Amino acid sequence: MKLLFHTTLYLLLCLGALAQENPWWKETTVYQIYPRSFKDSDGDGIGDLNGIISKLDYIKGLGFESIWVSPFFKSPQGDFGYDVADYRAIATEYGDMATCDLLIEEVHKRGMKIIFDLVMNHTSDQHEWFKNSKSSPDAEKRDWYIWRDGKKPNGKRPPNNWKSMIGGSGWHYDETTGQWYWATFLPFQPDLNYHNPEVKKAMLDVARFWLDKGVDGFRLDIFNTIYEDTSFANNPFSLKMIPGEENPNGYFQKVKYTQNHPQSFEFAKELRAILDEYPEPKYLVGEVFGDTETLRKFCGENADGLHSIFLFKTLKTKMKAKHLYKMIEEFEEAFPEPYVPVYVYSNHDKVRSISRYKENEKIARLQAMLQYTVRGIPFTYYGEEIGMKQAYIPLKEGKDPLAKKYEKMPQWLVNMSGQSLNRDECRTPMQWDTTASAGFCQEGVGPWLPVNEDYREVNVQLLSKGDNSFQSLVQNDNIRRLYSRLTYLRNSESTLRKGSMELISYKKGVLAYSREHEGQEIVVYLNFTNKRKSIQTKPGRILDQTEFNAMMGVYVKDNYALQPYQGIIIKMNAPSTRK
Ligand code: GLC
Ligand code: MG
Repeated sequence: MKLLFHTTLYLLLCLGALAQENPWWKETTVYQIYPRSFKDSDGDGIGDLNGIISKLDYIKGLGFESIWVSPFFKSPQGDFGYDVADYRAIATEYGDMATCDLLIEEVHKRGMKIIFDLVMNHTSDQHEWFKNSKSSPDAEKRDWYIWRDGKKPNGKRPPNNWKSMIGGSGWHYDETTGQWYWATFLPFQPDLNYHNPEVKKAMLDVARFWLDKGVDGFRLDIFNTIYEDTSFANNPFSLKMIPGEENPNGYFQKVKYTQNHPQSFEFAKELRAILDEYPEPKYLVGEVFGDTETLRKFCGENADGLHSIFLFKTLKTKMKAKHLYKMIEEFEEAFPEPYVPVYVYSNHDKVRSISRYKENEKIARLQAMLQYTVRGIPFTYYGEEIGMKQAYIPLKEGKDPLAKKYEKMPQWLVNMSGQSLNRDECRTPMQWDTTASAGFCQEGVGPWLPVNEDYREVNVQLLSKGDNSFQSLVQNDNIRRLYSRLTYLRNSESTLRKGSMELISYKKGVLAYSREHEGQEIVVYLNFTNKRKSIQTKPGRILDQTEFNAMMGVYVKDNYALQPYQGIIIKMNAPSTRK
């Protein structure tokens, strides 16, 4: 009896401790690496795994706790790795399995985590599975992909009206077997058939393979397209022409039977269950398109699906206090604890932030401060921390398969869309220093994409100059230093990592919100206007500002004059516990 009492007490205590401890991913900060463009170590002008290893100290020094690496598996590189030909082999230009193991080890050695990029929806058409599938209607793996007869009488028209995500029919005719296969993205990326239990098992085994190697989680590529409806009914008509992240309908049809299928929500849970088999916490973040309510469905009703979802609404939301307030309100409502929102501001498909803000660095700084102080998991794409800009590369010079597809589109139309159809533009080599090729690759080697012209002013070396003396910090302030300060603050202030989130107001164009944890309160004021604004505040100390100046660390009493586009973080004086 006594023993039972003690065991129960012990278990309760353990549960109590567990309830307080967040899993690592909930409090982490993620640096995204596009391996082809980060650092070349072997002189072929293409970034590689050894290159990444050589820069881990830089990333750790910036204060990041995790890295997400875009795919580096065996691939014909038609879509630069998002077309996988073997999920358990490394593309030779990036390294080999031993280097990959070393990368995982080196990341862990530094107390950091590593997230791989899992492309589950489709493989490359060069994958052995597809080669087999395509070889004959009776092939062993025929049913691993989605094959259909074309429309009668002669089958030379696609089976139904389904459009691919990037326009045009997603059906492609195969001469050998006289049938059509389905591809959500590009024609050389055939969709796997998840209705076939063997496919599901094979792909869950791939996840296990990497988890067993110590990988800490996965970023899931276009996860909302995993399942298609087996009715193969035509998608209904829609007035919408251009699909977007928040509403994937487009090309005049709803994606009813091709995206966000209820079975994909279920699959999120099946994948999650695999991760939950491991003793140490593992993490899933989904690239999913739809309205906020749909996105939530991928997380499961009981937080038993994907841990988090990239929220792209950020990119369409005006950088104005009122609009941001509404956006945060929506995220907080849809993703309350234990869910955590992920505010997306950059990745390998999107226009670089500073260019999105028409090169107004002050707005880029406000964005960074917002992203690192709201409740959420911040993801930063390589180069954003030094304010790397979007390069200008005309569609017809593009290496990106999307640029090739839209090659004929007039440039003015592309510019008007505000989108980047040539994703090379945000994938130019990382700018390390002022040497040739910005230190990305050795001298005399051509980098796979041109280095952006501004590399002599925008590079890690230059933006890291100075020491930590107050005077030097004032003199050498820049966006890179701001990123370091923000990650440092998150690391030192548990309120920013664990605290609840409370919106205060958007009065006068100043966005204000507070974070609270165990009696501590931190308030953030972001002035999104080009005017000075005075704010009313409770007494506290300035923890950080978008621009480092003599006010850093100063105590404020009850009001403060914000400079145009200035953001500040104030830690409130702890409420007195004595009466
Ligand atoms: C995702 C990736 C993108 C890729 C596509 C197809 O959107 O982010 O880079 O081209 O999926 O895999
Ligand atoms: Mg699919």
